[in-house]
Amino acid sequence: MCPMREQTAQEDPSRRRFLFLTGTASIVAGAVGFLGATVRYLFPNVLYEPPSRFPVGLAKDFPPDSATFLAEHQLYVFNTREGFYSISSVCTHLGCNVQHLAGDGFSCPCHGSRFDRNGLVVSGPAPEPLPWFGVNLSARGEIVVDKQQIVNPEYRFKV
Ligand code: FES
Repeated sequence: MCPMREQTAQEDPSRRRFLFLTGTASIVAGAVGFLGATVRYLFPNVLYEPPSRFPVGLAKDFPPDSATFLAEHQLYVFNTREGFYSISSVCTHLGCNVQHLAGDGFSCPCHGSRFDRNGLVVSGPAPEPLPWFGVNLSARGEIVVDKQQIVNPEYRFKV
């Protein structure tokens, strides 16, 4: 018998075993991937966002002629003689919370944007004014802010 033929005959079992293991591993990996994708499909992608309409407190909790910053909602609630109104505290540049200036308007601590008392841009880099949100009263007498109701700066809500 030729020595080469003898060597090939000896290698065949290990080659077969290698191909069997590689093929089996591929099938198992494919099955695991398919099962994983199927299980993942059963759990939909859901974003749990906070509600856009929420109570912020009783009207009497906001003193007359006050500006109240509500960090958890990222907005200001103003109580003036003309009524209540709410302005977003989120800077329209990159989203920092603006600070209400006791004298007038708002200032952004991040890049120095300035807004007037109505939230209009006085100096950039903020590209747009601060949005105003609708304000209502709940049946329980709470001030309710609706972030989806964008109103103009003449808006006031009388309680
Ligand atoms: Fe307000 Fe940049 S985030 S100026």
